[in-house]
Amino acid sequence: MNKIFTKNIEHESAKKHVTGKAIYTDDIAEPTNLLHAAIGYSNCSKGIIKKIDLKDVFQSEGVIDIITDKDIKGINDVGPIFKGDKIFTSKNIEYYGQPIFAVIATSNILAKKASLKAKVLVQELKPILTIKEAIKKKSYVLKPRFLNKGDAKNNLKKSKNILSGDLYSGGQDHFYLEGQIAMTVPQEDDNFLVYSSTQHPSETQQIIAKVLNQDFNSIHVVVRRIGGGFGGKETQSFLFAAIASIASKKLNKPIKLRLDRDDDMIMTGKRHDFYFKYKVGFSDKGKINALKILMASRCGISADLSGAINDRAIYHIDNAYFIPNIEIESYRCKTNTVSNTAFRGFGGPQGMFCIENILENISQKLNKDSCEIRKLNFYNNIRNETHYGMKITDNVITDIFNQLIKKSKYYKRKKDIEKFNSKNKILKKGISITPVKFGISFTTTHLNQAGALVHIYTDGSIHLNHGGIEMGQGLMTKLAQITSHELGLNYDSIKITSTDTEKVPNTSASAASATTDLNGGAIINAVSKIKSNLNKFIYDYYNAKSIIKYKNDHVYFNKRKISFKDLISKAYLNRVSLSSSGFFKTSKLDIDTKTLKGRPFLYFTYGAAVSEVIIDTLTGENKLHQVDIIHDVGNSINKRIDKGQIEGGFIQGLGWLTTEEISWNSDGVLQTHSPSTYKIPTSGETPFKLNVEIYKNGYNKEEVINRSKAVGEPPFMLAISSFIAIKDAIYNTNKNRDSSLLIAPATPENILNSIN
Ligand code: MTE
Ligand code: MOS
Repeated sequence: MNKIFTKNIEHESAKKHVTGKAIYTDDIAEPTNLLHAAIGYSNCSKGIIKKIDLKDVFQSEGVIDIITDKDIKGINDVGPIFKGDKIFTSKNIEYYGQPIFAVIATSNILAKKASLKAKVLVQELKPILTIKEAIKKKSYVLKPRFLNKGDAKNNLKKSKNILSGDLYSGGQDHFYLEGQIAMTVPQEDDNFLVYSSTQHPSETQQIIAKVLNQDFNSIHVVVRRIGGGFGGKETQSFLFAAIASIASKKLNKPIKLRLDRDDDMIMTGKRHDFYFKYKVGFSDKGKINALKILMASRCGISADLSGAINDRAIYHIDNAYFIPNIEIESYRCKTNTVSNTAFRGFGGPQGMFCIENILENISQKLNKDSCEIRKLNFYNNIRNETHYGMKITDNVITDIFNQLIKKSKYYKRKKDIEKFNSKNKILKKGISITPVKFGISFTTTHLNQAGALVHIYTDGSIHLNHGGIEMGQGLMTKLAQITSHELGLNYDSIKITSTDTEKVPNTSASAASATTDLNGGAIINAVSKIKSNLNKFIYDYYNAKSIIKYKNDHVYFNKRKISFKDLISKAYLNRVSLSSSGFFKTSKLDIDTKTLKGRPFLYFTYGAAVSEVIIDTLTGENKLHQVDIIHDVGNSINKRIDKGQIEGGFIQGLGWLTTEEISWNSDGVLQTHSPSTYKIPTSGETPFKLNVEIYKNGYNKEEVINRSKAVGEPPFMLAISSFIAIKDAIYNTNKNRDSSLLIAPATPENILNSIN
């Protein structure tokens, strides 16, 4: 194993993050003539605009201009795949928070104040707000999808036991620390330089070009880092970059558009909440024989990424379990709410939440330990084909589970909990162990490609560029490590630079946890081309006869050793090219987009968590006492960063399932649009003990860099164990009643409702 990959270098910006020196979009030196934009948006969720009176907006202090749909030269749409994401509306209101105009003023606060002075007369109509209403009215953003394996109907009939019920998982606001922001600076010839907090610079470029009715090559997007994205800036950043650019073109001035937290929460989409209806047949031992499932999600007003998100929910309904007969119906519901979007796990968490609840409900019905029932249903060497027809060849879940059961003393603690519960009337404890199996690759196959650009300057220092976005996940650190490893150079000689559409074109979003795999692959390809130039030079110039090795800032051949710096300056004088682009695409992927069957993923990552929780049956509060995790990251490139991702992912998942509740009133107006009403987990929710272990036998069977595995999203789903532990605690209050009524998030209110 190479030492560079075991050094566990700290995040390249760790010190800059904590000293405030890291430059985010709002910290970029502002042009002197910069103007600021604020968006005026709808205050109801459905209606017809009768009159827009912007007189007072115009007369407000510091106002320069107003932008509406009439100022759009190209298309009035920022939809990524499908149309339907209007920039400004002037006729129909389709959701609360829909942009109607933008006001341009001399400061951010003056623009915001002016935006509130609009008088918009709307004839209100009755909106469709909930999943159930949408299903009833067949209101969908995309056609329903179905996937079957075996014969669920007949096997349900034959099953000894049958259980049916409903489940609900809530939405989630991304709550990135840096909100949505963009700054557009006009250049010569109607070209525009755009700084945007986005996970997807290439699509930002393309969409701005279409909105301005210009060629893609006239738009230049630059991103050094973003202050968290979590999927919320995969497409939802486009609207703000587009509005800044429309204004910039109209006024020929630099424009910045930065949302405050409330507007950010109101105007941007969230995780899809899901409704599930299931019928499951199983043996007396708890082995699943057949499953019939209806899953429906609230997509909001437009398709956005909802197709792929709901597909991923279908792909993860099995989690780590072999289900011999299954029948899935998936409905993508259109509601008069802001369009929901990507969020860490991309539908996977919702699918897995469903099956984990079903298994827990089965074990309560049979009054059996749910750990045993989970193990009984795991994929194994024989039962190893998923419902979408992919063979699982890298399964390590049983090993991880057994290690974790031992390490966490699961059975002993379960007994202790029984004792505790028998002595305590009001406080009740629960415990649960749940697995994670998560597929890595974009399920839209063509997105699994990446590019890179590597320069070596004549002093031997390296300039690294690629298509990936640093959003806090440590991407740049890992990619610099990979570059330094490939060139045998010290990590510090690699210069990390902003992601830039003029350096690496046509990139995919940084998403699906695959950014290191993809861009790392492209970097290796670029470096190998430069090295092949250098090697040819070494063979000719130094008359090398042996293999050439790049190590410790030196190059070794013929029992000789010369410094990398010397080699580069000689190579330059001898006119050797020291720069190259690189490209990578994932192999082996193959799916039928009609049936969803085939191989959507290159590999799976695995993990498991044990959560021990205590609930107060009088207040409904809960507190996690201890969480033990073993998580597979293959042969890690950087354990320090991977551990950060596991801890952060777990806590974010915990927020989704316990504290974070999105609430609309009956008119579709968002009630939870600031931290005072929307509760993300903080130190107070962190378990007293959080033991995270990286799976020691981790190894990627596929030829991924260093045999590592993706880590960004999968740990999020470890938090399902905490929700299930709460269910166990509720069940422990009265074993004659199950806890299947608990809906997510398990807020005190929802916990109390499921006890009483
Ligand atoms: N970690 C931090 N700190 N900030 C983020 O925005 N996004 C998550 C995950 N971890 C995110 C994060 C999501 S949704 C994804 S898809 C991956 O990181 C993307 O980065 P990767 O492909 O490099 O793992
Ligand atoms: Mo992550 S939801 O794929 O940006």
